[in-house]
Amino acid sequence: MKVTVVGAGAVGATTADNIARAALCQELVLLDIKEGLAEGKAQDMMQTAALLGFDTRITGSTNDYSKTAGSSVVVITSGIPRKPGMTREELIGTNAGIVKGVCENILKYSPDAIIIVISNPMDTMTYLALQSTGLPKNRIIGMGGTLDSSRFKYQLSQHLGCSPSDLNAVVVGGHGDTTMIPLIRLATWNSVPVTKFLSEDQQKQIVADTMVGGATLTKLIGTSAWYAPGAAGAALVESIVRDEKKLFTCCVSLEGEYGQKDICLGVPVTIGKNGWEKILDFDLNEEEKSLFNKSAEAVRTMNDVLKTL
Ligand code: LAC
Repeated sequence: MKVTVVGAGAVGATTADNIARAALCQELVLLDIKEGLAEGKAQDMMQTAALLGFDTRITGSTNDYSKTAGSSVVVITSGIPRKPGMTREELIGTNAGIVKGVCENILKYSPDAIIIVISNPMDTMTYLALQSTGLPKNRIIGMGGTLDSSRFKYQLSQHLGCSPSDLNAVVVGGHGDTTMIPLIRLATWNSVPVTKFLSEDQQKQIVADTMVGGATLTKLIGTSAWYAPGAAGAALVESIVRDEKKLFTCCVSLEGEYGQKDICLGVPVTIGKNGWEKILDFDLNEEEKSLFNKSAEAVRTMNDVLKTL
């Protein structure tokens, strides 16, 4: 099994690090356009193998896609990250061209790959990957909701004083500060609704803090976050290569599910050897439905920008 991570910046390298530590594949390729960066980080990671006890072989490549040939899964993290005060949407002009070019190069050497998109603005980059490659929809997966749901569980755990891993909670909709929808009504603490333990004010606070989770970190760190994005990317790779069929919120092509079509948006899906396999299409309440439609509208406006580039 071979996996490629494109982009050896903080998110790409952390995704690769998590993949190697969990020994999810025999071969792992890290690729970047910056001369030597991927080779250096790959070597650095390989020098942890003896300490951590993994057998994945990691190699780095400066833009030589022939090295990625035969990859089953490719994670795309390329593009510029946001700076403090920037929205993810402001990155579209630069990142659209990069993501499109990366998809073309990848498919030349790995025509059967499942593609995971992390680059921002993620919903639009996922849509672009689907449109520009013409791949079957199940092979294009946007990572955003997986990360946002994990951040939602973190925020909930802070108020509940519990382990984030005991929580079930999903964020649907877009991966933008104003487009994501943390579904607190449906969140549970080992099957008990969390709303039983939280005041209205606390619930509002948790939802608001989750929505600006990425922006908060960008402000603190000076660039966008990488530990949770990298762990989220690797969790999706794991579910694919081990055919786990785990449920994650991912940005996928909707064809009538949740009342939307011709758009990629975050919804709960199972992830297995075929990419995303099944959408959990359930009834949102009126308020959630209206938020979902608004989120779709905002993402659609962003997708329309692609036509002008
Ligand atoms: C974030 C970036 C990866 O939310 O979108 O941190």
